[in-house]
Amino acid sequence: MAYEHLLVGVEDAVAVITLNRPKVLNALSQALMDELVTALETCDQGGRVRCIVVWGGPRVFAAGADVREMADATSADVIRSYRFHQWARIRRVATPIVAAVSGYALGGGCELALACDIIVASETARFGQPEIHLGLMPGAGGTQRLTRTAGKSRAMEMVLTGRVITAEEALAAGVVSRVVPSELCLEEARRLAREIAAQPPLAVRLAKESVLQAFETSLESGLAFERRSFHTLFSTEDKREGIRAFLDKRPPEFTGR
Ligand code: CAA
Repeated sequence: MAYEHLLVGVEDAVAVITLNRPKVLNALSQALMDELVTALETCDQGGRVRCIVVWGGPRVFAAGADVREMADATSADVIRSYRFHQWARIRRVATPIVAAVSGYALGGGCELALACDIIVASETARFGQPEIHLGLMPGAGGTQRLTRTAGKSRAMEMVLTGRVITAEEALAAGVVSRVVPSELCLEEARRLAREIAAQPPLAVRLAKESVLQAFETSLESGLAFERRSFHTLFSTEDKREGIRAFLDKRPPEFTGR
């Protein structure tokens, strides 16, 4: 499928989706978000892709929602728009998504990275929610996902002042899982994605959903979800193969059944 604002490639069961509006620092226009959601859902449903990497190229991840598109919008326009349904659709993608962040991830760009499952950051990565400077506030999950990830005090500081944090600060705050030299950022994200893609896919999907439940439900409901998912995996061929291979001291051959 051809996209205007994205580049999409698949290799070794890993899809790499590159945000591609470099002239405006990958500003997340409505059209780009439409394409991104379509690309993510296509990867999720095709059966060929087992992990997805989203990145914005070496210079910038994304500088946020497209400010030009928002300039004349009224409350009524924004309430009526389907903009936020797209973010809910990203949440429903069952295939794990790794964000490879190099350069700025600001506003909606930071929120997009936070909506992914794992963030690999380059040393040049910078995370921030600068909407306050525009007379706005985060609107695509920043006040919720950043707070749950980095804690109240740091999230408050970032949201209320628009302060941008470095990759090292993001690592210390638990926002990213690792920081790598800039030139290795995409390769490290792909390596991680290949590692995930090699795991039994049904277990990966249920494990991803179970971890996400930790952000969204009570402990009791989350534990119940985890337990049911665990029970479910006992009827898969990959569970039989995984345990048999371990006992036979050989590598497993997972089939996704
Ligand atoms: N939307 C539209 N265009 C943008 C943009 C954005 N979010 N960010 C940058 N651009 C454009 C600039 O207007 C500029 O275009 P021109 O060359 O036509 O003037 C081009 O990209 C390059 O940008 P700069 O010249 O500003 O580059 P810089 O290196 O000097 O600064 C920056 C980089 C600090 C990221 C700065 O561009 C910036 O502050 N951008 C806006 C960041 C922002 O406020 N993001 C939040 C948006 S609101 C949001 O995201 C809401 C939400 O929660 C969903």
